[in-house]
Amino acid sequence: MCGIIGYIGKRNAVPVLLYGLQRLEYRGYDSAGIAVIEKTDKKIIVEKQVGKIKDLQEHLWNKKIEGHIGLGHTRWATHGEPTIENAHPHTSQKGTISIVHNGIIENYLELKKELLDKGYRFKSETDTEVIAHLFEDIYTGDLLDTAFEVAKKLKGAYAIGVISTYEPDRIVGIKKGSPLIIGLGKDENFIASDIPAVLEYTKDFIALDDGEIALVKRDSVEIFTTDGKKVEKNPFHVTWDVSVAEKAGYKHFMQKEIHEQPRTIGDTITGFSSSKTKNMVDTVKNADRLYIIACGTSYHAALVGKFWIEKFAKIPVEVDYASEYRYRDRIIGKNTVVLGISQSGETADTRFALLDAKKEGAKTISLVNVVGSSLSRETDHVLYTYCGPEIGVAATKTFTAQLVSLLLFALELGMKKGTISFRDYEYIHNQLLQIPSKVENILSKDDQIKEIAHRYMSASDFLFLGRNINYPIALEGALKLKEISYIHAEGYPAGEMKHGPIALIDEKMPVVCVAPKDRFYEKIFSNIQEVKARKGKVLSVATEGDSQIKQISDEVIYIPQTIDPLYPILTVIPLQMLSYHIATLLGKDVDQPRNLAKTVTVE
Ligand code: F6R
Repeated sequence: MCGIIGYIGKRNAVPVLLYGLQRLEYRGYDSAGIAVIEKTDKKIIVEKQVGKIKDLQEHLWNKKIEGHIGLGHTRWATHGEPTIENAHPHTSQKGTISIVHNGIIENYLELKKELLDKGYRFKSETDTEVIAHLFEDIYTGDLLDTAFEVAKKLKGAYAIGVISTYEPDRIVGIKKGSPLIIGLGKDENFIASDIPAVLEYTKDFIALDDGEIALVKRDSVEIFTTDGKKVEKNPFHVTWDVSVAEKAGYKHFMQKEIHEQPRTIGDTITGFSSSKTKNMVDTVKNADRLYIIACGTSYHAALVGKFWIEKFAKIPVEVDYASEYRYRDRIIGKNTVVLGISQSGETADTRFALLDAKKEGAKTISLVNVVGSSLSRETDHVLYTYCGPEIGVAATKTFTAQLVSLLLFALELGMKKGTISFRDYEYIHNQLLQIPSKVENILSKDDQIKEIAHRYMSASDFLFLGRNINYPIALEGALKLKEISYIHAEGYPAGEMKHGPIALIDEKMPVVCVAPKDRFYEKIFSNIQEVKARKGKVLSVATEGDSQIKQISDEVIYIPQTIDPLYPILTVIPLQMLSYHIATLLGKDVDQPRNLAKTVTVE
């Protein structure tokens, strides 16, 4: 949800900023811009474009801008439409201060009125422009001191980068609510919303916490709290290669990420260890109540996790959308545990719901993919998925990795509580180890799935059905399809179809049925017959060897056999592939679907 980058160092800032913006484009992509302090006359040059980063690149093609310090921004509009005026960076009236911002300034109207009364003129409709004018209005002769003062006046969530012609040897970064990391280079340093933006130049990072301000110079980085106290922070090192943020021969990041799943599932199994999870297992073991909260795809992983935790550890679990959980009258006792699932670890709804629950006395755990993300630092315990960066806006590899982590966590809990035997634990674990090669097998059906996509791409609505532990997979299949192809799709528990949605079924309606050969097979088989009897087009995801389902399906995508609890990790793969192919055949931009952003840092 907006991406920001800042550079100071020996190189020309322009290509570094553009490279970083390309890596951050998944966060927002309706307009973009850069601000650079020119090398010779030390003035701030601002260039912006509506559209994607490539439009900004084309716009800058023949412009010879050179400077060693600058800021860049890719926008996901909150206040004001995507126009050049509303694009960032925003510059103060005298042109001496430039700002990039990710987040929302909640009291901007009040601040704007004060500034208008003082004679400041606004060029944009954004909340961000007030920050630029505030900096100029308050400027004390020291950019860092000014940042302390400005931060006191701002309400809301923000990550801000500031440069000024008054002090062209520094960038100031401010974080509250939205993510901001510092990349540590040699004779150069960076600020960015996310690690991939600067992975080309460094693998050493500092993650700012809320209420921290960074003073970043070419050869030093200092961190302070907003009341001016210096903070010592430990840098962390990432081991990913820059290639994880490249397409590696695939047409889209989403396609690459779907095909990476055998590895990311394997890495997540290997990365999970009983010793690392010991404390959180102890915490949950004694919980009287376990809530799992999340948004979007992570919410669907939570729904599957509920089945596993209840089955293996016999702990009752309540799953809620984070945005709903935050504002309802939840019941929190001293043994309540809240587990938040978030790929990015930055989703505002999930973060703030967890922070509220923590304040009320709950113990908190996060399951995140991004190392150093806000959620991972704000919760009592953290569990990781090991996927490397996910760039495609639609979550794919992180979903299956979340499932793996939740399953392993449920098994650990079950062992600790004595609700499963060691034999069962080992058996399930061994079956899990075979999942990566089974995923490989499904991925090899790409051509078949593309042909099916071709036959159904013109449908205007889809229904997805599943039962029990595969019901959340039906929800996930529907979400994948609608978010990247813009086709209306709904997921339903198959047994619920007859209570309403069956009225929608006619010969034009494709119904995707998640029907592996598990203990609910007979039930969903009957539901499929009900669809067929109403002339619906049935696309089944079924287990290899199930010839019966062919007789009542128009299309069957076979997946390898596994044990009942592990099916969701397999059944979701063909649904991801189907959505991907339908969307690309329709000519949609699957990596950057309209109106969406990878990381939603606003409520
Ligand atoms: C769907 C998708 C979103 C995210 C949701 C939560 O493909 O990617 O629905 O799952 O915005 O994001 P995280 O997991 O980062 O909290």
